[in-house]
Amino acid sequence: MMEKVFHIPVMVDEVMKFLITRDDGIYVDGTIGGGGHSEEILKRTNAKVIGFDIDPEAVKFASERLKSFGERILILNKNYASVKESLKEIGVEKITGFLLDLGVSSFQLDHGGGFSFRFDDKLDMRMDRGYELTAEYILNNYSEREISDIIFRFGEEPRARAIAREIVRYRQRKRIETTGELVKIIDKVASKKYRLKVLARVFQGLRIAVNKELDNLKIALDSVIDIIERGGRIVVISYHSLEDRIVKAFFKSNERRCICPPDVSECRCGKVQVIKILTKKPVVPSEREISSNPRARSAKLRAGEKIFEFS
Ligand SMILES: C[S@@+](CC[C@H](N)C(=O)[O-])C[C@H]1O[C@@H](n2cnc3c(N)ncnc32)[C@H](O)[C@@H]1O
Repeated sequence: MMEKVFHIPVMVDEVMKFLITRDDGIYVDGTIGGGGHSEEILKRTNAKVIGFDIDPEAVKFASERLKSFGERILILNKNYASVKESLKEIGVEKITGFLLDLGVSSFQLDHGGGFSFRFDDKLDMRMDRGYELTAEYILNNYSEREISDIIFRFGEEPRARAIAREIVRYRQRKRIETTGELVKIIDKVASKKYRLKVLARVFQGLRIAVNKELDNLKIALDSVIDIIERGGRIVVISYHSLEDRIVKAFFKSNERRCICPPDVSECRCGKVQVIKILTKKPVVPSEREISSNPRARSAKLRAGEKIFEFS
């Protein structure tokens, strides 16, 4: 029987190269998904792995997959933005490495939830069914301006205003309930040539808004820096420029030393360099990986090492 695949992990060797610094550490996989990256950490070290995922299906799948590692693996059905508090609750104060492999898993894209424009489904898009906000709520209740902002800011779609106008026009006649209806609305605005790009951008924008993905990323990075041990690493794989920009800015601001104005002769801010950036340019998958796993196409990996500890 073929092994059930939840998600093919991206850039496995590259992730391991940057993340693993100690054989006996504690590594946190903030987005355990199908457990592919975690399994590699467990196989290549004697370390402990603590996984997070907001999707209970992912937690169930990864727990089953990794159960043979016994007490070396612990999986929490929690948001990675709560990493610091959640680890404190279980008595973990310091970790060796932190991995984020952002976005949705292939399983989530292919199994309902309204993440994909390729299937007709309910317009939900919540990775955590405990959230109240859904894509359907946004589309039927937010103002035209708010919808346009979401599509423009989070989807980076230039025709956001026209699409929002069409959404509001449609909902005056009928509530928008399915991804199929949303696709039809977008098709009224998008040209045939760019249709797939526009659909992908609008769906991305809504998904980011529903799941507060950019806020979660910022919160997680800002808090995890406190609990990474000196010499430990932070590794993030992002799949679009909005995420990548946040990761890049986070590493840069923690790499900077003094931020006093240039006319000050002696440093007064006391800012120290906390992170050493290990990837001056983002690492991208090989052509070979992209051809065998098209989802890897837009992946960008950035990594940094903590070099300073406040005592
Ligand atoms: C791309 S998949 C990770 C795949 C994983 N690296 C593997 O090897 O299978 C992203 C996962 O992150 C989860 N996720 C997204 N946002 C999250 C958040 N804020 N907190 C915890 N998990 C999150 C999703 O539910 C999904 O399962």
